[in-house]
Amino acid sequence: LIGFMGSGKSSVGRLLARKLAWPRFDTDEMVVAELGLSIPAIFAQLGEARFRDEETAALANLEIGPAAVIVTGGGVVLRPENVRRLRTLGTVVWLTAELTVLQERLARRKDRPLLQTPDPAATIERLLGERKRLYAAASDFANATSTLDHEKSAQAIPKALPEH
Ligand code: S3P
Repeated sequence: LIGFMGSGKSSVGRLLARKLAWPRFDTDEMVVAELGLSIPAIFAQLGEARFRDEETAALANLEIGPAAVIVTGGGVVLRPENVRRLRTLGTVVWLTAELTVLQERLARRKDRPLLQTPDPAATIERLLGERKRLYAAASDFANATSTLDHEKSAQAIPKALPEH
């Protein structure tokens, strides 16, 4: 699962893993466990570049077995090697949501270091503008989360997966 912050990757990933009875891996959780720090603390103390290096390493070292749901951080598509790795691992699903929905979902959230700016709504708009084409290019298909609730997304995704 790829997509912007607030697109529902964590929630849909949990539901999907339960539904398919597949293990779930979450690159944010793996980086947090590896460094023993929260994501805001990693960005504040070690910097974004270190976070990105750890994210790439987590993905590169992932051993998923025969099938799994992999939840990624919103910036995973920034590095082409991450995208290549995800595409080797399996079907890449882009969770999409309208800009206004993302802005609403992410308003006042303190756990996204990139959004701790004077105007988070404008930052979301700019980052989404920069990243949209990366999500589109990296994914096999998109699943809209503004119109479907998370449960419905988790129901729709398996139907679109090849042989499982
Ligand atoms: C990031 C998204 C976050 C987390 C970090 C950076 C991004 O994950 O990896 O704060 O660059 O979009 P979520 O998409 O789960 O919020």
